[in-house]
Amino acid sequence: MCGIVGYVGSEKCQDIVIGALERLEYRGYDSAGIASIDEEGLHLCRAVGKLAELKAKIKKMPIPGNTGIGHIRWATHGGVTEHNAHPHYATDEVVIVHNGIIENYAELKADLIEKGVVFTSDTDSEVLAHLFSHFIKKGLPPVAILQEVISKIEGAYAFTALSKSYPDTLMAARNASPLAIGLSDNMAVVASDALAIAHLTRHVIYLKDNDYAIITSKGCTIYDSNNEIANREIVQVKASPVLLDKAGFRHYMEKEIHEQPDAISHTISAMSDTTGRLTAGLDISSLSSIKGIVLLAAGTSFYAAQIGRYWIEKLAGIPVVCEIASEYHYRQPVASCQSTAIVISQSGESIDSLLAMRYAKKLGLDTFGIVNVVDSTIAREADKILPTRAGPEIGVASTKAFTAQLVVLFCLAIALGKQNGHISASRADELHHQLLKMPGAVGKSMELFDSIRPIAHKLKNASSCLFLGRDILYPLACEGALKLKELSYIHAEGFASGEMKHGPIALLQDGLPIVSFVSDDDMARKAVSNLKEADARGGHIIVVGTQSALNLLDFAAEKITIPECEPLLTPIVGAIPAQILAYLTAFEKGTDIDQPRNLAKSVTVE
Ligand code: G6P
Repeated sequence: MCGIVGYVGSEKCQDIVIGALERLEYRGYDSAGIASIDEEGLHLCRAVGKLAELKAKIKKMPIPGNTGIGHIRWATHGGVTEHNAHPHYATDEVVIVHNGIIENYAELKADLIEKGVVFTSDTDSEVLAHLFSHFIKKGLPPVAILQEVISKIEGAYAFTALSKSYPDTLMAARNASPLAIGLSDNMAVVASDALAIAHLTRHVIYLKDNDYAIITSKGCTIYDSNNEIANREIVQVKASPVLLDKAGFRHYMEKEIHEQPDAISHTISAMSDTTGRLTAGLDISSLSSIKGIVLLAAGTSFYAAQIGRYWIEKLAGIPVVCEIASEYHYRQPVASCQSTAIVISQSGESIDSLLAMRYAKKLGLDTFGIVNVVDSTIAREADKILPTRAGPEIGVASTKAFTAQLVVLFCLAIALGKQNGHISASRADELHHQLLKMPGAVGKSMELFDSIRPIAHKLKNASSCLFLGRDILYPLACEGALKLKELSYIHAEGFASGEMKHGPIALLQDGLPIVSFVSDDDMARKAVSNLKEADARGGHIIVVGTQSALNLLDFAAEKITIPECEPLLTPIVGAIPAQILAYLTAFEKGTDIDQPRNLAKSVTVE
């Protein structure tokens, strides 16, 4: 992962680089660094920990100069130490920042060591600095240096280099990892994400894979993989460049949980036409061309995909498979029954999901992106976008983007089912009507903070926790478990309720917390039987469901009552207590809720 920044222009670079890094902190936060150049040479400052640590350091020792680069790290190669933090340098000649993984770094490093180079870090990235230094010493101009460096490296990268020999120039390149160049009067800026620089300029060029660029304050020249000058379009960044605050909430996650009623209603609007008719943003020919679907996603988005599969199969009778994005393209899947790949990604930048989408495209499938960031790579490369209108999500653990993804998938399922006649028009209208109640039901669920607090207080002492659900609530159970483990670091697993007896039941012992989602439909009685089996073996049963579903579960130790809703929509309403339980348990434990250890919001390495 990691986030990179570069600036060259008429202003002092320090605050500009730091300002962009603040907006990239979702990409990593275990260390950060900045380097610049002025008439005295290169300046460098790095710090372990969040960006605040770097800011404290440069307050004491400011970074001068008008050309600078910066980095926020999520460690891949080499531990979290200052010498592994970026920028990396080679002598006092060159500094680089890199996002991605140089897969052949070991060979390159061995070769450079043989030439007498001394390495100061354990990272793969440092080879870049020494390669630059090697070709700079040969007296090559920047374009030739970049060509040479790129010809040597394999893997995923977005990097920017700054050399004493070319003090007013940034050398940048990308392959697989994102990189945007922002242009304005007397300045140019590069960053891993256009939104990180949108407060500086709305005019942005997205480099394509294997592009490289020479960037000065007067503009940039981009070259493609054939070393030809490439004419890349300057696009206007659409998303809001505002650096968001917590609006009085303790954490972004808490704020984002509360923003769900709006996120859901905005997303429903985006799925409807101007008359309010549900079209999922697609015309009839697009809908009727969808004959079989593969849903591709990672993390929380994958659980949204799994819930979407139940809906699309139930309501539209269209076969759906869900694939973990990182597995898809390596498995050489057979796609003969599918017409369409739908990639679900909050960030639109997860490399696993992006590569899976590209593979699906190669297989000849139409590609749709369900994305929250409309300027993202997946959004730009997909044939069509079905946007989630959740607004920027800062907390690493996804909340409002997840429920917005569910809304898109539900709308798609209804639109497909109505179009192909699997459900009647009146059933489609009824479901649409029920969906319109979701912002209200989710808003009401915010009252659950109070009733869940004592449950979280007890849960914080657990070392392990099981989550159960049947049918459409099985993927929600997995999502509930993911939320709890990523935020509170309590080991948690989600299982299909009916699967308990085939193995997980062996884990049962006195007091083991079991969180079970129960919907008010014909699955409820089966879920009750499964829970009775767990109760009989000492499990501490915590049930989540509507009052009518919970009436069947008088033996449960704790009950979390969600507002009544159409049973098919229980995953949307049920997601709220799952989020609140994880949030409050983490709060009780005092963990870092918005930036949990080892995680990052957007994962751009395989
Ligand atoms: C990371 C985040 C998860 C997220 C996953 C997929 O692992 O920590 O919260 O669900 O990426 O992200 P995407 O942006 O593709 O939905």
